[in-house]
Amino acid sequence: MFEKDTICVHPTRCKKTAYGAVATPIFQSATFAHEGLDKDSEFSYSRLQNPTRAALEARVAELEDGVDAIAFSSGMAAETTLMNLFESQGHIIAGDDLYGGTLRLFRHISTPAGLRFDFTDMSSPENIRQKLRPDTKAVYVETPSNPTMQVTDIAAVADIVHSVGGLLIVDNTFLSPLFQRPLELGADIVVHSGTKYLGGHNDTLAGFLVVKDQEIAEKLRFHAKTVGAGLAPFDCFLLERGIKTLAVRLEKQAANAEKIAHWLRRRPEVRKVYYIGFQDHPGYEITKRQCSGFGGMLSMEVDSPETARRVLKEVKLFQYAESLGGVDSLITYPMCQTHADVPEDERNRRGINDRFLRISVGIENADDLIEDLRQALENK
Ligand SMILES: Cc1ncc(COP(=O)(O)O)c(C=O)c1O
Repeated sequence: MFEKDTICVHPTRCKKTAYGAVATPIFQSATFAHEGLDKDSEFSYSRLQNPTRAALEARVAELEDGVDAIAFSSGMAAETTLMNLFESQGHIIAGDDLYGGTLRLFRHISTPAGLRFDFTDMSSPENIRQKLRPDTKAVYVETPSNPTMQVTDIAAVADIVHSVGGLLIVDNTFLSPLFQRPLELGADIVVHSGTKYLGGHNDTLAGFLVVKDQEIAEKLRFHAKTVGAGLAPFDCFLLERGIKTLAVRLEKQAANAEKIAHWLRRRPEVRKVYYIGFQDHPGYEITKRQCSGFGGMLSMEVDSPETARRVLKEVKLFQYAESLGGVDSLITYPMCQTHADVPEDERNRRGINDRFLRISVGIENADDLIEDLRQALENK
């Protein structure tokens, strides 16, 4: 069996392409003709399946060690489709530090539709145990969480939710299957915003659901073909191209992030750095056990709102933009962007205030990135 960095380039589950094409061709066709009345071809209609999408899904399923992966037009499309799996009145325990769009979905769409949510700090399995009910259908975790980088012990939480027959869903966007494989650790469903590390170039949106149980895969495929938010063939091509370089990008991003995190920690303008690679991070031991890298994400709290605004204004290489995981380094102001819909008191409780910035480290030279941050922090 090959290592995952080889699978990024040479998945073993993908079929041979026509004419020996090294890149999967873009099958830009909405529909597929059948050979005859009783001779259906493999594909019929692209909302259900398309050859370019099938090849991408096989690659992602193999990377996450799932039986199946379904590609969607965005991470949110994947999550919205996933929620259809749960019947009205179903109880779900979700992390209280999730991507803001996920919280918006749960609070403003899924709750009015009849699902019941309890939100809690997922870094303590005990919190989850306390919220668990006999009718708990799922636990929904982001680890590390967005944006305060809390770490959840996936195996421990899997045991807890399985004790009542529920599912563990893990959003693996921040670390990618190269650094963390939740299905191996006991999770049932993995969610990805493929827009981030998998795509890797800030040029397309995508989302994935990956599962390890065939029955759940079939249910999700039923919902996917009904909702009709499958990833378009050209975007599948971009995702495949991105995944081929995932290993080298991630290695550089993680090395850059480590250097920047340690440098930021020594700056007088920086009060706190949130980075899972610090030995004194509360989740460090769990991360060492369940992940093979610390990733390219970090957040920081600076000394004043003025400093936060100055950094956003003065950076030259970093760009003030939403999103993460791509080759270009980005800085996000979660209070105004990714988490703008989270009520202010809740945001403040979680430390997402007007001094809080999230950094997605790209593949540029680490010293150039540090110099960029230095001039922005010092520029008075
Ligand atoms: C952790 C995480 N999950 C899901 C999403 C939603 O993905 P998308 O923007 O591709 O819809 C995001 C978006 O930022 C995210 O950061």
